[in-house]
Amino acid sequence: MSGFSVEWLNLREAADARARDLHLHDQALGWLGLNAGALAHPSLGESIVVDLGAGTGSTLRALAAPGSQHLVWRLVDHDGALLNEALRRHGRHYRIEDYQSDLTVVAELPLGGARLVTASALFDLMSATFIDALVLRLAGMRKSWPCGLYAALNYDGTTVWNPAHPYDAMVLAAFNQDQLRDKGAGPALGPQAGNYLAHALTQAGFKVQTATSPWLLGDDDAAMLEALITGIADAVAENGSLDARLLANWRDFRLAHAASGGCIVGHVDVLALP
Ligand SMILES: C[S@@+](CC[C@H](N)C(=O)[O-])C[C@H]1O[C@@H](n2cnc3c(N)ncnc32)[C@H](O)[C@@H]1O
Repeated sequence: MSGFSVEWLNLREAADARARDLHLHDQALGWLGLNAGALAHPSLGESIVVDLGAGTGSTLRALAAPGSQHLVWRLVDHDGALLNEALRRHGRHYRIEDYQSDLTVVAELPLGGARLVTASALFDLMSATFIDALVLRLAGMRKSWPCGLYAALNYDGTTVWNPAHPYDAMVLAAFNQDQLRDKGAGPALGPQAGNYLAHALTQAGFKVQTATSPWLLGDDDAAMLEALITGIADAVAENGSLDARLLANWRDFRLAHAASGGCIVGHVDVLALP
């Protein structure tokens, strides 16, 4: 169990889909031979995509395109319930291999023969040690087989609320502090993850592009806003760095405006090609 519920992943998926940088998304599809400007690829039918922290399969859905069901999708997650949900939704129409594994055992990740490693909303949970080890493995593979990495939706530490509240900055600072907590993969990089990943891949010789992919949440996203506000308040409360009454004041104000207000939450997408 990972602490990520199917309900939360469902709630965020539409905002994630709107947020993804289209240019990088299309280039990732092109690398897989799945769009009009596709790079020639000798055996598209056998191309393997390895989705790290796959959850219920949102990356597979985000990269859905004519031909994507012919790829081999290796979905890796330590949460068996989420993987089962991915299989339930897509097992009949896609070629899925599911791996219930801990990503931090990088040497055992099923990357062999992969054309593309993908992830979404993952790297901010992970540590520098994990990223270093993964990039080292990808760079090592490059000699025998060219494999890219497409990592979307890495939280960048910025959140701007509408309407504003005097405690927004305090709550954000406390939340970003909590983002660095060890989530089971070592001390998390949190908001630094996107930059750290891009830098490590560049140093390893990949051609790296980054682009912003903010959540733009408004009137139509009340349910997600409520879940986000509650999640932030719970994380900050657990962290214990803010006065409980101050935090409750912020949370109550935010929930009261969830149906009429909104927010922009910053993310960064990273695409690295050999
Ligand atoms: C924020 S969710 C994102 C899920 C999916 N990629 C999406 O965008 O909907 C992070 C995912 O990473 C998985 N995860 C986190 N740490 C992991 C680890 N150490 N090993 C395997 N999976 C992990 C969680 O179970 C969860 O499915």
